[in-house]
Formats: sequence, structure tokens, C-alpha cells
Amino acid sequence: MNIYTFKDEEGFVQTAANQITSLLNANPYAKLGLATGSTPVGLYNKLIEMHRQGLVSFANATTYNLDEYVGLPKDHAESYRTFMNEKLFNHIDINKEQTHIPNGNAEDLEDECRSYDRMLEQNGPIDIQLLGIGHNGHIAFNEPAESLTSGTHITTLQAKTREANARFFPSIDDVPTHAITMGVGSIMKARQIMMLIRGEDKAEIAKRALTGPVSTDCPASLLQCHPNVIVLLDQGAGRYFK
Ligand code: PGA
Repeated sequence: MNIYTFKDEEGFVQTAANQITSLLNANPYAKLGLATGSTPVGLYNKLIEMHRQGLVSFANATTYNLDEYVGLPKDHAESYRTFMNEKLFNHIDINKEQTHIPNGNAEDLEDECRSYDRMLEQNGPIDIQLLGIGHNGHIAFNEPAESLTSGTHITTLQAKTREANARFFPSIDDVPTHAITMGVGSIMKARQIMMLIRGEDKAEIAKRALTGPVSTDCPASLLQCHPNVIVLLDQGAGRYFK
């Protein structure tokens, strides 16, 4: 694992963006694994800026998102499809047909999980998988548990996760209770993983995930077993890594 801590926001987002743009400039057909949440927003803004400056094109890239809420209409303000369109896809030259997000409204959700895995299997591996981390150590919506699921699956969101995400909804009761998520096995198949961690409130979980025991109690700790992981921490989250 290569772990870097940044004093300033600009260095943090520029380093993250450079990982993606240098990959795309070397291989315009690169497969990007993308994430939602507040952590990657600065990175997405930087990618939009670099695209506008003519420094990168996404025209031939394909993207795969980690997860989606179950039961929110696709065009709901808080669906991850809406998030990705508004925060990134609408502002770059990507072909939307080449952007994939699990369908949380599929009539048969189990079938949707199998189709998503089949697509990842046929088109993969993902060249770079972007990840955030939850306060409980989740990656995508793989919540801490006695055992973890390898492939794409439906998961029940833990109270802590729903509380954290309630800031985007009118009330906690409006936060979906379930999500469809790529499994840890699928995430671990990516050629490279780039984890971004921001904020003082993530310092403890960052320490646990990156230096603690590898355990399904902290799904992010499994990344310690991946051969090619880069972790970027801002100053707040990187308190233990100076
Ligand atoms: P955040 O979410 O970026 O909004 O903190 C990260 C996560 O829960 O994986």
C-alpha cells in the first residue's frame, strides 16, 4: 500500500486527478471504477477542469459505479445515477452508454446483481477503482459483518450509514434501507485501487483500515491484501500518517 498525506486540498485532488488522467492519456479505452459520496466531488471537479483545458478526454472510457440505492427512482435527486450525471458525466465528453451503475429499480434485483457481475467479468478488469470509506469501515456498501459477499448483492444499510447519508435527504426516514453494491471480491479484482479519505472524522477508521488487523469487521482493511493500492489522505484524515 502506498499511503500519502496532503497538507492542502489542491495537492490532494490534483494527485488523485493525475492518477486518472495519466491512465486515460496512456490508454483512452481505460475502464474506470467510480464512487459517489462527498469525498470524490473535489476530484470530479478537477477532472472537469482538466477536460475543459483539453488535458484529458473520456470519449472512449467506460465507467462502472460501485453501488446504487434500492427503490429510488433513477432521476431522484439523491440517486447515484443523478449524482454521477450532475457531478461528472454531464460535464465531460463521456458516452453515457458507456457509464454503468447498478439498477436499484430492477424488477428482479437478484437478476440485476448477476447481470452486473457478468458485465464486470466480460468487460473487466477495471483499471483503476476509486473508493471512499465509511465511518464504520465500509467500502461501497459492503458493511462490516462476520462474512462478506464476493459479488454484487443487495445489502441492508446499517444505522450508522443511513445516519451519515441522512444529510442528503429531508429526514432519516427518507434514506433508503437497502442498496445494491459491488462485492469485495469484485472490487479486489481491479488492477489498481485508489482510496481517498478526507476529514478528521475519518482519522480513526483510516488508521484501523490501513494499519489494523485485516478483518471483515472493517471491510476496507481487506485492501491491505491487494497488490496495488494507493491511499490519499487529507490532513484531517491523515493525522496518524504524518
Ligand atoms: P463520504 O462517503 O465520501 O460521503 O464520506 C464515503 C462512504 O461512505 O463510502
